[in-house]
Formats: sequence, structure tokens, C-alpha cells
Amino acid sequence: MNFTILVNKENPLLEDYVPDDLQRIGSFCSESDKMLVKEACINFEIMCADALKDNMNIKAISAYRSYDYQKKLYEYYIKTRGLKYASKCSAKPGYSEHQTGLAVDVMGENGDYNLFGKTKEFKWMMKNSYKYGFILRYPSDKEKITGYKYEPWHYRYVGKKLAATLFLENITLEEYYLRD
Ligand code: DAL
Ligand code: ZN
Repeated sequence: MNFTILVNKENPLLEDYVPDDLQRIGSFCSESDKMLVKEACINFEIMCADALKDNMNIKAISAYRSYDYQKKLYEYYIKTRGLKYASKCSAKPGYSEHQTGLAVDVMGENGDYNLFGKTKEFKWMMKNSYKYGFILRYPSDKEKITGYKYEPWHYRYVGKKLAATLFLENITLEEYYLRD
């Protein structure tokens, strides 16, 4: 598994791609039956356990998503919000990094992922998530680069080394790949 893989509007996955080492996230930090690739899962659980020690309650609400599930989500957004909006907040099937098993959406104690950006848990994540290999994937000031609206709840496992580079240089995965 390549933890640094770039999946975005220009770089899709195959329709039948399913990661081979998915693992269920522990229930103390996840809604039921959410899965991540093993290494991402272990680091997510360690991160959430450390956050709990600081009284931060972080829970996964979405993690691995199959091609078919992403298709349903995308179509739901088109139906309810229209194509223009859908394309800024939901990936087309095959184009979501949730299909890699390396992306996770979280919520904090207030129980509403839409408001995650306003929580103490978000502040904690901004300071600490890179230490566990996770980066904020769609920052507010990078919408033109990522192609997606700000998503304070969406984190991507890229491994500790690359996460530290992206965090310290304040760059997205797109910018990292563009510069070499
Ligand atoms: N919301 C992100 C972009 C996704 O659908 O993968
Ligand atoms: Zn997400």
C-alpha cells in the first residue's frame, strides 16, 4: 500500500479497487463498522486515545467507502444540491480518496461534523494530527488547488514523514507532487 498516493479530480482509482488490509476502527473512536487500511487505522486509534487524555473526543463518522457507496453519495448531492455544488463537496465515484481506505471524516463532542471546524477537537487536530501521519486534506485557503470546498472534518493518512513535511511547509498533497 502506497500511503502517499494522490487521488483527486485528475487521478482516479480503478472502479474495482478495494484495499486488501482494511481493519475496523475501535468503537471508542468510531461509529460502527468504519474501516481504514491497517496502518492508518492503528495510527488513528493511537491519535484518538492521546486526544482523549486531553479530554478531546474524536470519532470517525466515515472512513473507507466503496466505489458504489461513493456513487450513491455523489448522486445524492447532485439530486439535492445540483451538479455545481456537488462537484465542490463530493468526489465522483472512483475519484474519492475515501476509496483508498486512507481518508477519515471525524466529528467532535458536539456531534455535528459540519461544525467540526469550530470545536476544541479541531484545534487539537490542527496542532497534533501530523504527528500521527494525518493531514487536513482540504484547507480553507487551498480550495483552488484541491478543487474542493473547505472540509475541516476530512483527514488523510499519508504516513508520519510526509505528514510532517506537508504540515511544516503548509502545502497540500497536490502542491507536493507539483513541485518535483
Ligand atoms: N468529500 C470528499 C471530497 C470526497 O467525497 O471524497
Ligand atoms: Zn471525507
